[in-house]
Amino acid sequence: MTKTLPRPSSLIEHFRFDPKVVYLNHGSFGACPTGIIEAQQRHRDRVEADAMQFYIYDLWRMVDRSRQALGELINAQAEDIVFVNNATTAVATVLSNLDLAPGDEMIVTDLEYPACKNNFEHFANRSGAKVVVVDIPWVGLNEDAAFDAIMAKVTSKTKLLLISLISSATAVRLPVERIIAKLKDQGVETLLDAAHGPGCVPIDITAWGAAYTTGNGHKWLCSPKGVAFLHVRKDLQAGFRPLVLSNHAMDIEPARARTKRSAFNHEFDYMGTDDRSGVLTIADSIECLDSLMPGGLTGPDGIMAHNLSLCIEARNLLFDAFGTTPTIPESMLGPLAVIDIPAPGLHPRELRENLFKNHAIEIMIVPSPVGTHPMVRISPYIYNSIEQYQYLGDAIRSEIG
Ligand SMILES: Cc1ncc(COP(=O)(O)O)c(C=O)c1O
Repeated sequence: MTKTLPRPSSLIEHFRFDPKVVYLNHGSFGACPTGIIEAQQRHRDRVEADAMQFYIYDLWRMVDRSRQALGELINAQAEDIVFVNNATTAVATVLSNLDLAPGDEMIVTDLEYPACKNNFEHFANRSGAKVVVVDIPWVGLNEDAAFDAIMAKVTSKTKLLLISLISSATAVRLPVERIIAKLKDQGVETLLDAAHGPGCVPIDITAWGAAYTTGNGHKWLCSPKGVAFLHVRKDLQAGFRPLVLSNHAMDIEPARARTKRSAFNHEFDYMGTDDRSGVLTIADSIECLDSLMPGGLTGPDGIMAHNLSLCIEARNLLFDAFGTTPTIPESMLGPLAVIDIPAPGLHPRELRENLFKNHAIEIMIVPSPVGTHPMVRISPYIYNSIEQYQYLGDAIRSEIG
């Protein structure tokens, strides 16, 4: 292909993209800047220099450094955070810790990530519990409609709600604060899936009070792949265990007296020998992102604000290009958005593959929750430019004819 590709933003110099690819899918797999990759390598070098010292003595305080840095970003106490490989594992871990009985109900919304829903089905089937799916009304969607749809499904048997902070394929920022609080009043706990959370939108774990929250580092914190957190509210930590039990599982007290960690931290920090270098870069990831823009990660001129504003600009540009109109209010947007493509019957995968084959664009194309047309999901990051979205709009128009 000998096309002239649109220029990305100058900040792309911090990343390691193939220059022959227009990468527009940070929302699925965030890219890792060179500064973070180098930090990870330093942690790996540290392990290889003396793995005995690392796994027996140093690992614990080094994970604490990540806990501390992340806790400050999401307003959580460091000791209530543990790390797992991804949000999917965190969801399975929570489910494996529930005492579900036949007849219990767990609510999931129809906008949840498929792997998370699958784990809910799996654990419900094993225990005789039931998964109740809430259809979030897509046409005329607003915060009240989402709230009401969920509340209408709560019964005396409801034990847990799974809800995304920002839904995956549909990119909706749901009103989780209200929902968590209302359910808590009714004795129902929430598992908040903030896979698009840290570094994506502001998060306040303490104020929101969900029983369990997970979020990915490898999306909007640009950490290496295989980095996610699980926050468990303090009152639920006793007896809460990882999916994989390690050496000291049956006699934890002497071991945790040595590492001076809670059983919760101790068990999750070492789940068998594993590459923990990604988890150890969380503090480095936050530091590195803070250095990339004058407003840092969270300031008014920082990365999060920049991504949101580029998302809104690109969304408007694409609505104009396709002649379609917004389906959800701007108040329900993070730095991700979906735009209807007026091509009834066109399969999302076919369009995605053609955009890559014919235009070198990596982007997410998803089915619309209503109708048979596809939607394009954008998720701009600081290395993207508005010219790239202009190019995307032209490319989609040329594909749909
Ligand atoms: C809302 C949501 N939840 C969970 C996941 C799964 O994340 P992971 O692959 O890290 O388990 C995703 C991935 O895109 C997501 O968007």
